[in-house]
Amino acid sequence: MMMKYYIKTFGCQMNERDSEKIESILQESGFEKSNLKEADVIIVNSCAVREKSEKKIFSEIGRIKNINKKAKVVAMGCVAQIYPEKLSKISDVVLGTTSIYDFKNFFNKDLRDFKAIFVSNQIINPDYIFGHLKKPTAYIDIIYGCNNFCTYCVVPYTRLREISRSYKNILQEINNVVENGAKEVILLGQNVNSYNFDGVNFIRLLEMINKIDKLKRIRFVTSHPKDFSEDLAIAMSQLDKVCEHLHLPLQSGSDRVLRLMRRKYTFKEFAKKVEYFRKYNPKGSITSDIIVGFPMETEDDFKQTIKALEEIKFDEIYSFKYSNRPFAKASLMPNQVSDEEKAKRLNIIQNLQSKISEQINKSYLNSEHEVLIESKAKISNQMQARTRTNKIVNIDNTYFNLKEGDIVNVKITKINKHSFNGEICIN
Ligand code: 5AD
Ligand code: SF4
Repeated sequence: MMMKYYIKTFGCQMNERDSEKIESILQESGFEKSNLKEADVIIVNSCAVREKSEKKIFSEIGRIKNINKKAKVVAMGCVAQIYPEKLSKISDVVLGTTSIYDFKNFFNKDLRDFKAIFVSNQIINPDYIFGHLKKPTAYIDIIYGCNNFCTYCVVPYTRLREISRSYKNILQEINNVVENGAKEVILLGQNVNSYNFDGVNFIRLLEMINKIDKLKRIRFVTSHPKDFSEDLAIAMSQLDKVCEHLHLPLQSGSDRVLRLMRRKYTFKEFAKKVEYFRKYNPKGSITSDIIVGFPMETEDDFKQTIKALEEIKFDEIYSFKYSNRPFAKASLMPNQVSDEEKAKRLNIIQNLQSKISEQINKSYLNSEHEVLIESKAKISNQMQARTRTNKIVNIDNTYFNLKEGDIVNVKITKINKHSFNGEICIN
């Protein structure tokens, strides 16, 4: 009988990719994916970015043990990296963000002696090329870790210091996935703009990837605003495969708060970067992250964030209530904002952003866009696709035979809150 696994992933795309690495290790050993109840091994990949996300691994493992008592449990990811002992009490294997390569060597099919803690103070074998599952879009790690130490952030402690992967291995990995049918890559890093290996910087890397024949689209996350340059804005417009979408986390519109956050830019400097991007990519889209209720954030600071959102007009924002994180300096700052006030502020900016997004999205009506078909949509006979600007489009497939990985032109026929409807252009 085939051995089975179940995997649950919290957090960002980096975590999605790490989970996929584990899946490929298990599948190579002959395991198949199953539901929670039937699994022999259960993996929970954790996120530590906010207090709420951190709690999820503990409740998830509790839930698992109620449903499946016999399975071996692997607790991995960002929480595993910082709290290995705590997690070892409720799981069999603890696997930090640094040690997936170690897990590969340790993993044995019959789950003998399946008890270990793998956590290291540096990433082990960052260049190793792990397998990918067959999908139109492949996540590709290009740089691990973070050297920025924003005062609210736990990531430098969960993902450690920056280390770029060799471009030869990155190119090899991308060649592997396109040979396997992928059409698009999303290059991953906490700060992709810091990529540097043997003098090859991020722009040079994009140029090299852009030459890969069967690859159709290139995306990347995340750019730190302090390192986003006019040259990169130009490269994005000149390299035909690089999509016109930029995720540029602002965090706050107040220069005082930005300084307290140690973001290393002012709002004016941030706005300049947006201007560069828009100058060379006039049809491009920009998304951002915002934190409300950072310690010492006053009414007036918050108003600056509102003003910033009104001025920049992002396509979409991901907004969060500030939450204290272990090791992060801001946890020790005085004048923490009450949860009630944070909730109020969050509500205000989310309502404002909804209106801005709606207005921008309206301009898509009746326009034509190239989309990549990603998967079946929730509604039957519909496929879900994505524009180069990162907007989701659902397409009726009743009279067509669209498949995952196809690239077609569609006309946008309807604007919904978080997606569009589109029709295939036949010409
Ligand atoms: N509290 C709230 N939001 C946070 N983020 C990171 N750390 C915290 C924190 N302590 C948000 C930032 C970041 C996104 C991934 O998560 O906006 O860009
Ligand atoms: Fe990703 Fe950061 Fe969460 Fe880790 S803590 S999973 S790096 S968002």
